Amino acid sequence: TLAEFQQIHDFLVELALRGGQMMLDANPSASTSGSKKNSVDLVTDTDKSIEKMVLTNLKYKYPNFDLLGEESYIPGRKISDNPTFICDPIDGTINFVHGVPNVCISLALVINKIPVVGVVYNPFQSRLFTAIKGKGAFLNRTERLPLRDPNEPLPGLNKALVAIEWGSERKGNNWDVRTKTMVKLASQGGTMCHSVRCQGSAALDMCGVAAGYLDVFWEGGCWAWDVAAGWCILTEAGGIVADANPGNWKPSVEGRRYLAVRSAPPEDQIAVVKELWETMEGRFE
Ligand code: IPD
Repeated sequence: TLAEFQQIHDFLVELALRGGQMMLDANPSASTSGSKKNSVDLVTDTDKSIEKMVLTNLKYKYPNFDLLGEESYIPGRKISDNPTFICDPIDGTINFVHGVPNVCISLALVINKIPVVGVVYNPFQSRLFTAIKGKGAFLNRTERLPLRDPNEPLPGLNKALVAIEWGSERKGNNWDVRTKTMVKLASQGGTMCHSVRCQGSAALDMCGVAAGYLDVFWEGGCWAWDVAAGWCILTEAGGIVADANPGNWKPSVEGRRYLAVRSAPPEDQIAVVKELWETMEGRFE
């Protein structure tokens, strides 16, 4: 029920603020952080301790819910239809270790794989993005998202600011698709969109599209914990999510490919999704 969602939302906000404080108290360094898949897939002790704090608290308060966390993820695990909390303790770990203030904790509740509560908190800029399905999305609890006219036209990609991330896969098909498409989107002779932004946090990219200062976010290769909370915030702000690969209007939260478009007249949103699909140089695997 909505009352329960509100209670869960309030608890996730409390945990996000605690996690944010742990980031502010930490003293990370690029040279001492650990790595996972490869040398650019970073993890720090702070990622691990925030995730532990969050999951321990959630397990205690909601013992019947499932838990999924970036740092404790077991490869191959699928999200069930049960209520599931999804935690990214630090989204933007590379920014975190280098001291770039575009970093957040991202917490979501998904039911039947649909994000119903989303909380994204950037402690370095004191920005808290939140949403409950059916109740709208907010910045710092009081400013309703988007931060602009929700019906502002989006006449095409050539007028858009597009967020794409470099990701941690730096070779192979997906790397080629990403980088070639990025170049085409930015080039004169190609789409020549206003610009491409690689800000280092997929969750904050989703929130930027929700707020409306980014028009589009396009990504193949990130994970449910990067986008689940932002997805709820974005859709509550009037944005839409499609698959980053052409043809799929109903992507899954664990599908790892996302194309998000800000609030705009629906025909503009649809046209921009199609335009990006047509611009792609290949398909993500
Ligand atoms: C990463 C960031 C990055 C995106 C990667 C993510 P992390 O998350 O969101 O922008 O390109 O795909 O894995 O590792 O900092 O939590």
